[in-house]
Amino acid sequence: MFNLVKGTHDVILDEAQKYTYIENVLQNTAQLFGYKEFRTPIIETSELFLRSVGDSSDIVRKEMYTFEDKGGRSITLRPEITAGIVRSMVNAKLFAMQDYPVKGYYTGPCFRYERPQQGRYRQFNQFGIECIGITSPHRDAEVISMGFDSLVFLGFENVTLKINTLGDDESRENYKKALRDYFGSHIENMCNDCKERYQLNVLRILDCKDPDDQEIVKNAPKISDFLSENAKQSFETIKKDLDFLNIPYEVDESLVRGLDYYSGVVFEFHYTSSKGKNYGAIGAGGHYGKLVSEIGGPEVEGCGYAMGIERLASVMSDDNLFEDLTDTTDIYVMPLGERATAASLGIANYLRVSGYNCEVCLEGKGMSQMFKKAERRNALYAIIVGDNELDNDEFVIKNLASQEQFKVSSDDLLKKLDELLNFEGRKHFECCDGDCDCDGDCDCAESEENKGCCCSHKE
Ligand code: HAM
Repeated sequence: MFNLVKGTHDVILDEAQKYTYIENVLQNTAQLFGYKEFRTPIIETSELFLRSVGDSSDIVRKEMYTFEDKGGRSITLRPEITAGIVRSMVNAKLFAMQDYPVKGYYTGPCFRYERPQQGRYRQFNQFGIECIGITSPHRDAEVISMGFDSLVFLGFENVTLKINTLGDDESRENYKKALRDYFGSHIENMCNDCKERYQLNVLRILDCKDPDDQEIVKNAPKISDFLSENAKQSFETIKKDLDFLNIPYEVDESLVRGLDYYSGVVFEFHYTSSKGKNYGAIGAGGHYGKLVSEIGGPEVEGCGYAMGIERLASVMSDDNLFEDLTDTTDIYVMPLGERATAASLGIANYLRVSGYNCEVCLEGKGMSQMFKKAERRNALYAIIVGDNELDNDEFVIKNLASQEQFKVSSDDLLKKLDELLNFEGRKHFECCDGDCDCDGDCDCAESEENKGCCCSHKE
């Protein structure tokens, strides 16, 4: 037996089904907003994260999985995906070729050497979006609303959206100066991390979790007193848009985020499950002003967010938001004898291309064992195939819950199954065998008995 690496976990069976469900809902939402998929490598040059996430962040200072490859290059397992997405957009020259904003979504594993605890892993999965080439705060509001809508589509009610602004360069410089003055007289009594943060990026002190330090942080100057007119206006526009969209939010002036690339609006989605468990932020993001140019692109601004799939799956399981995920098999085919077994391979395939989820017993088991197997697979119907049935070109369909049985001819098999299984919206790949000369102009694919014709001119 080999143990899992600390901070990692297997995602298997029902859990994997939940992840797929979450990812599908998040992807579908992104597509509704006109985003296109990006898949970038898990390994990137270490320099990319130093430049983007920033050398004052905990992620870069303490949490990166960095190693030298056999060619002597410093490589890092991505701790987040934004930097890689922006790099890919720059490399592909999308900023020269596309209408702004350039919009991408992504899903995949990230790696951070953190202390594992509830909702915190060393390998975890993110779904995220980036919207780049932003010139209006309305676009930031749209990004935030898209994150909120995704959570609503997943079935969340009562998500807490925390927002803040880190202002523009001018506001932030003035604010940092005020923070340095304020913390200067307290820093000797603060934790060692804060002492380092004071030197590297004083804003980070606002994020300190040490209870004694938090008392000091409480009375620190607030960013709202240092915002330039422009920064104030942008933040007001975003808040008004959220009000207009009926999206509730809390302004939290201590929200600074743990990555260095942010400027302007930052936000986090929080949710406490009905079991009272708080897994940390389920998603978070913000506006970035310089990230694209620091990675070699033009001076354009962006905004995005990422959701933690592990955290979403945990709170959704706690609150039964997955109730629609059933794991049933439509049909279990039960062949009796060698001839029927061979024939059943074909029958099962015919049912699959007709849109039914179907399994078949190929191991030559007896009836009672096959019924047990069908039960374990949560099968709804069994189709029993024996020599008699093959000779007479007919099948026995059995409802496994009510035990009701029907005899149908092979010609009527699909019609009967459609009726029994309430066939709705599933695709029939009935084929005209390319035997029509409609030049793709016919409606054979749409006809009731032939939904989704599979001949080459269709789909
Ligand atoms: P982040 O806040 O570091 O932001 O991570 C986003 C989300 O990933 C978190 O809200 C959380 O749900 C999940 N997450 C982070 N660390 C862990 C962990 N150790 N275990 C489990 N889940 C975790 C970013 O990564 C930014 N790239 C988001 C962004 C996109 N900003 C702009 N665009």
